[in-house]
Amino acid sequence: MSGLFITLEGPEGAGKSTNLQYLAGKLRQAGREVVLTREPGGTPLAERIRELLLAPNNEKMDSDTELLLMFAARAQHLSTVIRPALARGAVLLCDRFTDATYAYQGGGRGLPEARIAMLEEFVQAGLQPDLTLVFDLPVEIGLQRAVQRGRLDRFEQEHQDFFEAVRQTYLKRAKAAPDRYKVLDAAQPLAEVQRQLDEIFPVLLERSRG
Ligand code: TMP
Repeated sequence: MSGLFITLEGPEGAGKSTNLQYLAGKLRQAGREVVLTREPGGTPLAERIRELLLAPNNEKMDSDTELLLMFAARAQHLSTVIRPALARGAVLLCDRFTDATYAYQGGGRGLPEARIAMLEEFVQAGLQPDLTLVFDLPVEIGLQRAVQRGRLDRFEQEHQDFFEAVRQTYLKRAKAAPDRYKVLDAAQPLAEVQRQLDEIFPVLLERSRG
């Protein structure tokens, strides 16, 4: 594969979507083909699985059901969007990927890491992002921003400890593999976060030359 696979991670309210657009604009200006996508979702079928995952529901969703639905959506996304885009040599910017599964289903729900790793190997067969940008934000700020945005989805209704575990899992994973992760301080004003992105942009361009 000759493309570049970049994922954006972090809590709700960290500005991932805005910054995804910002990066896409810069990459296009530099002449790269850019594909923007997200998880769970990114294909019509995977977006329907997303609806099941995010809808607040009277029936409590079993954590393994949640985990399997995440990977079911991911399998569809990989085969119809991610692998073809990378094979064409495009730069793929994905709003969340498997790091979110480690953070939310692992850290938040408390599912064993080994169970996630098993599914990761099964579904991805060794495919990993080339670069993961972690938009780090104190839990209270993220929750405040999510509440301001309106109706809360099934994950946003979780308690503070859940999001603390999510945050710590992201930071732990970033620390363990500093070559693959870049942690950005998303509590800063947008202009400052984008300055941080400008700083790492040359690395990104370099890598996307293949
Ligand atoms: P968002 O992309 O709009 O932030 O919403 C997606 C939600 O799904 C978010 O709360 C994180 C959650 N999620 C997981 O729990 N596990 C995953 O593997 C992914 C991709 C997302």
